[in-house]
Amino acid sequence: MDTKKRYERPVITKHYSGFMNKIGTSSFSKPKKDIDGVAVTDLVEKFGSPLFVISEKKIRQNQRNAVRIFKTRYPKVQFAWSYKTNYLNAVCSVFHQENSWAEVVSEFEYDKARKLGIKGENIIFNGPDKSRNALLKAIKEKAKIHIDHFDELYEIIELCDTEKLKAKVAIRINMDVGVYPKWDRFGFNYENGESWQAIKRIITNKDLELIGLHTHIGTYMMSTEAYRLAASKLAGLARSIKEQFDIVLEYIDLGGGFASHNTLLGQYLPAEEVIPSIEQFADAISSGLFELNFKNDELPLLILETGRALIDDAGFLISSVLANKRLSDGKKALIIDAGVNILFTGFWYKHKITPAQDCGLHTEESAIFGPLCMNIDVVRESITLPLLKKGDKLIIEYVGAYDMTQWMQFITLRPNVVMIMEDGSVELIRKSETLDYISEMELLPLKLSLK
Ligand SMILES: Cc1ncc(COP(=O)(O)O)c(C=O)c1O
Repeated sequence: MDTKKRYERPVITKHYSGFMNKIGTSSFSKPKKDIDGVAVTDLVEKFGSPLFVISEKKIRQNQRNAVRIFKTRYPKVQFAWSYKTNYLNAVCSVFHQENSWAEVVSEFEYDKARKLGIKGENIIFNGPDKSRNALLKAIKEKAKIHIDHFDELYEIIELCDTEKLKAKVAIRINMDVGVYPKWDRFGFNYENGESWQAIKRIITNKDLELIGLHTHIGTYMMSTEAYRLAASKLAGLARSIKEQFDIVLEYIDLGGGFASHNTLLGQYLPAEEVIPSIEQFADAISSGLFELNFKNDELPLLILETGRALIDDAGFLISSVLANKRLSDGKKALIIDAGVNILFTGFWYKHKITPAQDCGLHTEESAIFGPLCMNIDVVRESITLPLLKKGDKLIIEYVGAYDMTQWMQFITLRPNVVMIMEDGSVELIRKSETLDYISEMELLPLKLSLK
């Protein structure tokens, strides 16, 4: 006879990081005392703290690796460096030396690329905000304009008509690739037929030449299947364009969005264990594209606008401990000299944070706060670290993408940025800001002067 199992009440046991628990022991990384062979102490002595450090070698390695991986899977590949990811001139120049075009999303970025010597035809002009002036310039300079919405299309049609110009254009397309929420605020929608409407309006206009199709399905994407679907949908459109209008497109642009090696806040396993490799993204994209079934000479160029996956791990932020503290509940806290004003990605990522000098074996769970007198300035809610004292250095890793563009001048000044060159020399690539630099843009009405 079955006996009823005895009820046992559940027990919730708190696992403390830093101590042995069911997952094992937690560990912190060994101290990292140099970056590309240059001692952290030397860098700080010469350029101060906090300090952004970029590795030229790592950027080149990442870029070459990605090109090799894609080119072994699809015959015609072109990368375009996504300026907003990091548009420091030195960084863009390394990518351009590696044959990347420029992918820009504003007139400011467009002008920056032109100033660096990139020809209009090698600039991909994305984004929802292209002024009339910017459009005129881009049309004249034969840039590849990716139209975002119908109002932009009508403005280009009108500009070409009044100025007697011809424009080379592509459209950005958004679509359902099984990733939610959908990124449908940029470009023309695929499923509801809007993109096909835009294509027909372009093709039937005498001044416009449709040369490509573009999508950027999202950012920090973990699904390779989403890319296969996106490539397959764009390939389907390209096939229809060929069949119905006898037009063979120059390119298909799959955008960026591959996850980098940073771990997202709330992600349990480290990024290294969960993100797909570039090989897997490339396999998915090429198999989607081969649904084109075109002959080799008719295959469109595959353009990629990969940002974070190519530069995150080439960027480091050296920071100094300003103070140790105990919070009211006894939790340990560190205050460091780098805050969310220069580490914007601290809002999304659990960065790898490593001490830059020898330290003892004892570890303690700590919160890390930045130097700002603002409650939002939390670099990390909780991390297991060895005991650090005032003046000790930490290296915040994987900060190459978005931090040096989304940083803000708030309460303190933005620090120096250096690049460690392939030959081991160190170049200052952006000077730390000064009060005069910031004040230069301000105007004080005479009536308010205290002098
Ligand atoms: C149009 C476009 N291309 C490329 C990128 C680069 O994306 P990621 O850095 O995620 O590769 C972005 C970023 O959001 C984008 O909007």
